[in-house]
Amino acid sequence: MGKNRICELLGIRYPIIQAPMNWVSGADLVAAVSNAGGLGTLGPNAGADDITLDVELTGERMRNQIRKVRNLTQAPFAVNIVAGFGEALIYSKKMVDVVIEEAVPVAIVSVGMPDIYTRVLKDVGIKVLHAISTARHGKKAEEAGVDAVICEGYEAGGHKGFTELTTLVLTPMVADAVSIPVVAGGGIGDARGVLAALALGADGIYMGTRFMVTREAESHTRVKEAIVKGEDVCTVSVPKDFMLARDLINKFTKDYMEIRKAGASPEEINNYLNEHSQYRSQHLGDADEAEICCGQVAGLITEVKSAGEVMQDVVQSINSRFEELKRRLADFL
Ligand SMILES: Cc1cc2nc3c(=O)[nH]c(=O)nc-3n(C[C@H](O)[C@H](O)[C@H](O)COP(=O)(O)O)c2cc1C
Repeated sequence: MGKNRICELLGIRYPIIQAPMNWVSGADLVAAVSNAGGLGTLGPNAGADDITLDVELTGERMRNQIRKVRNLTQAPFAVNIVAGFGEALIYSKKMVDVVIEEAVPVAIVSVGMPDIYTRVLKDVGIKVLHAISTARHGKKAEEAGVDAVICEGYEAGGHKGFTELTTLVLTPMVADAVSIPVVAGGGIGDARGVLAALALGADGIYMGTRFMVTREAESHTRVKEAIVKGEDVCTVSVPKDFMLARDLINKFTKDYMEIRKAGASPEEINNYLNEHSQYRSQHLGDADEAEICCGQVAGLITEVKSAGEVMQDVVQSINSRFEELKRRLADFL
C-alpha cells in the first residue's frame, strides 16, 4: 500500500482513481485498474445491455457487477452513486442499499448534496468520496463528513456543476479550503498531469476519458476510434438542465445547440436527449448522432491501450518527468 493519504484511506498502491463513466466503466475495467494498483469505479449502467427505468432491476444489475468485480480482483474498488435530485433520489437510494448490502469498500458520490448519504454509508465503514466543482462545495462536503473530495475541473468529460472552474484553479482553492485529502480530476491523461495535480495540492488523481479509451472499457469501438482521432479542440461544453456536460463534438452536439437556440421546450429538449443518449453512442456505436461524454484530454490520447498499460505508462514515467521538471526548475530559478 502506498504511503500517500489517498492510498492509506483506500488501501491501494497508487493514488490513481478510474473515474466512473455511464455505460463505460463495467466490471472488467474496474478490476483491471484495481489489479494494477489503482481504484476502479463501477459507473451507472455498468454491464447493461439495454435501458431500464425499473429501480429494482437497476439495483440488481449493479449487484451483479459488484459480484463480477469480486470474482476478478481481491483489491478495493468503488461504486458511483449519482445522488441526483427529486425523482432521481429513488435510484440513488436503491444504489446506496446495494452498496451497503454488498459491503463495497468505497462509494464515489456525485451530482448531489453531500449530507444525504454520507452518514449512512460511513456508519457501516464505507469510505465516501464526494465530487465537487467549487471550493464552497468542497467545504460543505467536508462538513458533511466525507473522507475525501474530488475536484472536477471544467476540462473533464461528462456532467458536472454549472461552473467553469478549471482543474488548474479549482484544485488549489479546494486544497486551501479543506483539510481532508483532495483528488484532482479533469484533463489528466499522463504523468505530466499527475505531477501538475500534485503541485496544485492534490493527494490523488481521477481519470475518466483516458480509461474510456482502453480495451476493457465498455465503450463501443467506434467511440474509442473517434476519440483517438480527436484533436485539441474536439470537445465542447454543452448546457443541460442544471449542469454542464463536456462532449465530443459531432452531429449530436451541433444539432443539440441548434435545437436549444431555436427555442425548443424543456420537454422537446428532454426527448431529444433521450433519443440521442450515451446508450446509443457507447453501447450501440453511433458515434455521430448520439452524445459522447468526453474530456479535453482526448486530444492527448493517440492509442487504445489496456487499462494496465495506462496505469503502467503513468506510474513508470513519473520519475523521468519529475527529473525533467527539476531541470526546468533549476533553469527557472
Ligand atoms: C463517458 C463519460 C461518462 C461519465 N459518466 C459519469 C457518471 O455516470 N457519473 C459521474 O459521477 N461522472 C461521470 N463522468 C465524469 C467522470 O467521472 C470524471 O469526472 C471525468 O471523466 C474526469 O475528467 P477526464 O475525463 O478529463 O479524465 C463521465 C465522464 C465520461 C468521459
